[in-house]
Amino acid sequence: MSKGVQPISRIIGMGVSYPETILSNSDLEKIVDTNDEWIVSRTGIKERHIVKRGERTSDYCIRAAREAIAEAGVDPLDIDAIVLGTISGDFRFPSTAVLVQEAIGAKNAAAWDVSATCSGFLFSLYMADTLLAANRAKYVLILGAELLTPMVNWSDRSTCVLFGDAAGAMIVTKATDERGIMSVVIGSNGAHVDLLYSIGAGTASKGDLAASNGDRYLVMNGNEVFRHAVRVLERMAVEAVAKAGLEPADIDWLIPHQANTRIIRATAERMGLPMDKVFLNIHKYGNTSSASVPLAMYEARNEGKLKDGQTMLSVVFGGGFTWGGTVIRF
Ligand SMILES: CC(C)(COP(=O)(O)OP(=O)(O)OC[C@H]1O[C@@H](n2cnc3c(N)ncnc32)[C@H](O)[C@@H]1OP(=O)(O)O)[C@@H](O)C(=O)NCCC(=O)NCCS
Repeated sequence: MSKGVQPISRIIGMGVSYPETILSNSDLEKIVDTNDEWIVSRTGIKERHIVKRGERTSDYCIRAAREAIAEAGVDPLDIDAIVLGTISGDFRFPSTAVLVQEAIGAKNAAAWDVSATCSGFLFSLYMADTLLAANRAKYVLILGAELLTPMVNWSDRSTCVLFGDAAGAMIVTKATDERGIMSVVIGSNGAHVDLLYSIGAGTASKGDLAASNGDRYLVMNGNEVFRHAVRVLERMAVEAVAKAGLEPADIDWLIPHQANTRIIRATAERMGLPMDKVFLNIHKYGNTSSASVPLAMYEARNEGKLKDGQTMLSVVFGGGFTWGGTVIRF
């Protein structure tokens, strides 16, 4: 019997999708006053994948979902719920989740979006685990998907270098052995909305924030977000590991939200985890928001790093603020 709590649910299929077009740091040097050295040393990002005009979030979700369903070997008609973490859906309404439902033929599912910024995937995982614990579902399709690059101000060098576009999907079902989601914790604090937001077509579009910053773009106070993120991520890591009935030494991999290598390094240090136990792919994709964790988990597994029987910890932080942590035995 392995150490730690018995999982309720587990992941049986994963899929990802991201745009073909790559925007490198040297490409960005031609757009704003920046340079590769600054971006790499401050963030760890070398390049990111960006969408072309006319592409939709649902396009990427559908591809990722189909791959996850194929790996899981699940009939789409057996999916009971589709929970999609996104703040960049195709429409103001309906949800992007219903577009995915229609495309994959999951006619028996209830489908909805979750608005939790970069924590959207973890919030969706939390819901899936809760639905399975309550015997309200047999199979849940969860997704984290974000096309943020159409939302950034391409003349603001402090934000436009950070983000990339992607989608990730997973099928979650009841655990049958010791493998699965051992803990998942989430939380929020609405006191710092002004530090990271985008009004877009929201009803605040004639409010004070819009008057001072314009309402089209993503707006961020990077320094302040950084400070909050480091503190909260450590707390999430400690909580998720304790709830799983484990200690930091039991963790084989930290696969965190890929927002900034310095934030990730600080979290690992505070947990006493060496960097060779930390999975990074931020250099290839930038911050893909709610897609970042499923994309990192997918790559960690497919590169043969995250192996069957190993235990991973993930922590996320995003605008709102929102946050979460999970421990999963693969
Ligand atoms: C955005 C971030 C990389 C900025 O790094 P930083 O070390 O805090 O840098 P600062 O904002 O203090 O800026 C330092 C200098 O670099 C400049 N700078 C900002 N962006 C730059 C860029 N892309 N290229 C070159 N210089 C840049 C600033 O203008 C500033 O110059 P000044 O000192 O002459 O005013 C960092 O704050 C960060 O990653 N924050 C968290 C963001 C995040 O993760 N958000 C999503 C949460 S899910």
